[in-house]
Amino acid sequence: MHSTSLISGGSRGLGLAIVERLLERGDEVATFSRSGSPALAALAAKHGHRLVVEQCDAADPEAIRGFVERVAKRFGRIDHCIANAAVAHEGVLATMADSEIDAMLSVNLKGSIVFVREAVRQMLVERSTGASITVISSVVASRGSPGLSVYAATKAGLEGFAKSLAREVGPRGIRVNAIAPGFLETDLSASLSPENRSRIARRTPLGRLGLPADIVGAIEFLASPRAAFITGQVLTIDGGSSA
Ligand SMILES: NC(=O)c1ccc[n+]([C@@H]2O[C@H](COP(=O)([O-])OP(=O)(O)OC[C@H]3O[C@@H](n4cnc5c(N)ncnc54)[C@H](OP(=O)(O)O)[C@@H]3O)[C@@H](O)[C@H]2O)c1
Repeated sequence: MHSTSLISGGSRGLGLAIVERLLERGDEVATFSRSGSPALAALAAKHGHRLVVEQCDAADPEAIRGFVERVAKRFGRIDHCIANAAVAHEGVLATMADSEIDAMLSVNLKGSIVFVREAVRQMLVERSTGASITVISSVVASRGSPGLSVYAATKAGLEGFAKSLAREVGPRGIRVNAIAPGFLETDLSASLSPENRSRIARRTPLGRLGLPADIVGAIEFLASPRAAFITGQVLTIDGGSSA
């Protein structure tokens, strides 16, 4: 039987790569972001009824609740939920605006928690077997990075959330894990200066920044029966830079 997978922030970057990979393996997939993208529209044209795309703001709990309920109704079940949508405002804390702090807390942390809560509610009602939650963290959660303290706080919060939730819903057969990528070549890291980019590559044993393709295999694995005994874990994928 096919799985149904929900992904937040599937319009571009890592989220788009996850949507594409899970469609390729035959899942029914639903995703939301604030805006669409030509790449997502092309996938919708190709996969038709197996892909649901909506425009919602992760910072709006009612919108997220509606999205998850509509998807559960349409596909009849939710097997996997991947909380991926995030924003990063870079800057020293001393001059960071309240609006930037609020945006990161409400999208990255509260938005992910609400999204996962809605998915878990459905999973508990449906008594889904083999269900999983994966939250996308970052290596900065554990390692820190100047200019990313608030972003790092949201990601560290997500890791704590995943570990506690894993204990809470494990007895109901739902697994919860986090993936912590190193710097990736996406829009989110587009503001990195060439100097910072080459410094990161130099410090990385595998000699380069990551690509979404380097991360999606692990996400697909965690959302599969092959990971049936893995829960409460944070998997770092960073080319060895934090080793
Ligand atoms: N890139 C990196 O270096 C890196 C490193 C470690 C971890 N990560 C993590 O990996 C994940 C994916 O990042 P990425 O690099 O792929 O970022 P990205 O290219 O900027 O894509 C972010 C996605 O999230 C969506 N999004 C942002 N704010 C949203 C909101 N308020 N409501 C709904 N959707 C929203 C975006 O769509 P809209 O803008 O249209 O809403 C987009 O689809 C994030 O959790 C990020 O923290 C990234």
